[in-house]
Amino acid sequence: MTDGAAPVDWGVLREAARDAMSRAYAPYSGYPVGVAALVDDGRIISGSNVENASYGLSLCAECGLVSQLAATGGGRLTHFTCVDGAGAVLVPCGRCRQLLYEFGGPELVMETPEGLRTLDEMLPQAFGPQHLG
Ligand code: THU
Repeated sequence: MTDGAAPVDWGVLREAARDAMSRAYAPYSGYPVGVAALVDDGRIISGSNVENASYGLSLCAECGLVSQLAATGGGRLTHFTCVDGAGAVLVPCGRCRQLLYEFGGPELVMETPEGLRTLDEMLPQAFGPQHLG
């Protein structure tokens, strides 16, 4: 699952992200996004972007994902993927990398258009809970 016990099925994770993307609410940008992650207890969680008429209040898909993480029992994110409206792998925005860092830390494995990367590679020298003691 996460410790090399079984390989991570990125196809399954990507399909969960695409499914979430199909339910995005993105009438302003016209740019639906879906994300999915594997949690260290084996469950898969997902999220999609939810925009707002007050544009700046729009929520990235990752906001929904971390809310679902907490609402369904918490845990640590181990593997993450993000897709655009065409279902193609997309890099998460900078703010969302920070959101993911809170619950995945530097070892979180991310699928990117350039291949698998750790969150440490995508958000080097991250500020995080460790700085607050
Ligand atoms: N978006 C996400 O949901 N996650 C990202 O990591 C990148 C951007 C959304 C925000 C907005 O609703 C739309 O994509 C266009 O920026």
